Amino acid sequence: TRTIRLAVVAGDGIGPEVVAEGLKVLDTVLAGSDVTVERTEFDLGAQRWHRTGETLTDEDLAAIREHDAILLGAIGDPSVPSGVLERGLLLKLRFALDHYVNLRPARLYPGVPTPLATPGDVDFVVVREGTEGPYVGNGGAIRVGTPHEVANEVSVNTAFGVERVVRDAFARAQARPRKKLTLVHKHNVLVHAGHLWRRTVEAVGAEYPDVTVDYAHVDAATIYLVTDPTRFDVIVTDNLFGDIITDLAAAISGGIGLAASGNINPERTTPSMFEPVHGSAPDIAGQGKADPTATVLSVALLLEHLGLTDEARRVSDAVAADIAERDGTPRSTSAVGDALAARAAARVPA
Ligand code: IPM
Ligand code: MN
Repeated sequence: TRTIRLAVVAGDGIGPEVVAEGLKVLDTVLAGSDVTVERTEFDLGAQRWHRTGETLTDEDLAAIREHDAILLGAIGDPSVPSGVLERGLLLKLRFALDHYVNLRPARLYPGVPTPLATPGDVDFVVVREGTEGPYVGNGGAIRVGTPHEVANEVSVNTAFGVERVVRDAFARAQARPRKKLTLVHKHNVLVHAGHLWRRTVEAVGAEYPDVTVDYAHVDAATIYLVTDPTRFDVIVTDNLFGDIITDLAAAISGGIGLAASGNINPERTTPSMFEPVHGSAPDIAGQGKADPTATVLSVALLLEHLGLTDEARRVSDAVAADIAERDGTPRSTSAVGDALAARAAARVPA
């Protein structure tokens, strides 16, 4: 038997509600197998901060490192100043655990409402760099609050950081049927970083002759995502562009209630972290209204990362089947979780 040590960070708002359903599906899909899950719940987020002033201590981080993977619900609450939990907890986890691949698949399941006029076959994955760019906090401000204030946020792009994420994206493109990689950047303006990304894609691409390479400026990419999303297969991009275009990718493929993500350390020297793209939605927290599907799809990514490919497929097939039968009738968070768990349960051979 195999034991998976899972760190659970339910977090704030709807986080605990959606995580409960993700765990329900995880337990069901593994029931009767030789894989058991050993969970540790971590008390992190707004409540802990209010109580102790702590976001993520060295001790928390050391304890989390002892796990094989992390399932995270959502972080953030209006009662906490903007940036405190985002930087001090969520980004700190991504950075400290070197989650340089922020994997965000976008797939429009049959039957899902989309604002697209001509949906076609939307099925692409965004490989968003997770540890660099303007997210590193390299910046500062002077003369704050005066008319002469200067506020800088420096985007950090290292050859090492760009190459490793570009390599990961090429490997993913190579493994997909269409074998296409699109770099999204803005190299006509951000010439320093843009040219590093371009050169890197060109150099690594030479090792992947089967992969078709394409480029789009980020502004144009937002148009294509709406007018012609089928042109995308694997998108590789920096941390901030990736943040923005993956919200758009979610919007065209069923909304933020369906968007899953993995913060992955491909070398597996640290636990990777799986989380819905959506936030803590404090306005609907505690009402059993949140759609847990994005968390359940994040569980599928988690299973895939752990090499449990059949189980991952059962979970994503369960979601596809459930979605196909959705008719707009509201269902509670736990009702959706129950339905997905029932579909994902191992079928006993006749
Ligand atoms: C996301 C979120 C985070 C990000 C925030 C909450 C720090 O928007 O996961 O997309 O910008 O990465
Ligand atoms: Mn975001």
